[in-house]
Amino acid sequence: MIQKINQISLEVDADMKVVSTSEQLENFRVKYLGSKGLVKELFNELKSAPNEDKKEFGLHVNALRIKLEVFYNEKKESERPLKNTSEAQDLSRSGENIAHGSHHPLSIVRDEIIEVFNRIGFVVSEGPEIEDDWHNFSALNFPKDHPARDMQDTFFIDKGAQEMALRTHTSSVQVRVMENNKPPIRTISPGRVYRNEAISARAHCFFHQVEGLYIDKDVSFADLKQTLLYFAKAIFGENAQIRLRPSYFPFTEPSAEVDVSCSICDSKGCNVCKYSGWLEILGCGMVDPAVLESSGIDSSVYSGFAFGMGIERIAQLKYKVNDLRMYSENDLRFLKQF
Ligand code: DAH
Repeated sequence: MIQKINQISLEVDADMKVVSTSEQLENFRVKYLGSKGLVKELFNELKSAPNEDKKEFGLHVNALRIKLEVFYNEKKESERPLKNTSEAQDLSRSGENIAHGSHHPLSIVRDEIIEVFNRIGFVVSEGPEIEDDWHNFSALNFPKDHPARDMQDTFFIDKGAQEMALRTHTSSVQVRVMENNKPPIRTISPGRVYRNEAISARAHCFFHQVEGLYIDKDVSFADLKQTLLYFAKAIFGENAQIRLRPSYFPFTEPSAEVDVSCSICDSKGCNVCKYSGWLEILGCGMVDPAVLESSGIDSSVYSGFAFGMGIERIAQLKYKVNDLRMYSENDLRFLKQF
């Protein structure tokens, strides 16, 4: 048996010198290391060798096997960079697809809302997320200690001398726009807002709003109503209807909450509209003269309307997403659907 091992060993040495292509390497592997290869054959013979010779034969066969494996693995390894380099140099090779992300549903809806209002002359304005009391509350007719402030659970921030807060609504941007511009004003202000609420499917500690403001001479409630009807039709389809319910906000008088006809069940009644056929989408009203005055606009000359809506709410209705938490969990299975 030793003789046979030596003979194969010589053959191996000769073959090793000539292996250069990957095809030859594969043939080499099959011949010696394959399941029907010569090494396997030697191991089978080892079983029937006389017991006293087994150890010595075993050592030789194993040494041969290791030699073959080392040679094979090294060759295989050295093939790889060779292949890669030649590929990299092939300038005619077609490009690879680059995996790219998708737009977040809230960005899609925000951009759509902006687009709808751009068409009727509203321009985008923005304000800071860390706001002072004046812009978030006082200028909007929330007197200090007024119970209406409790409607909005505020995150306060201690910033040294002046107490600041994370804005609870984008209505704060209204004030900034009125302070810095002369009417006519037509603006929408998209942005993130914060409220100290326990996170659940229906509430979150941050969410997004779009605020609208229109100030000019002779602006009436009818203008507000037509603007909102136009918006509802643009977003929810030509058949959309709106209805206004009297409501209260400190910064508008009169104030209303606006419902849109349920596009999910065609107003027939479903669990989303709670079988009423209507879905609440925003708050609005005529800007309170006191608010105009505190921002330096003469309320005897100008009037205006304002409205504010939650982007998550509109997105929920458009995409039937019933859990608000989905929007900020960054779950790719969710995000990839948009
Ligand atoms: N700021 C209100 C909120 O966050 C929404 C709102 C209601 C804005 C009526 C308005 C408005 O401009 O007129 O709940």
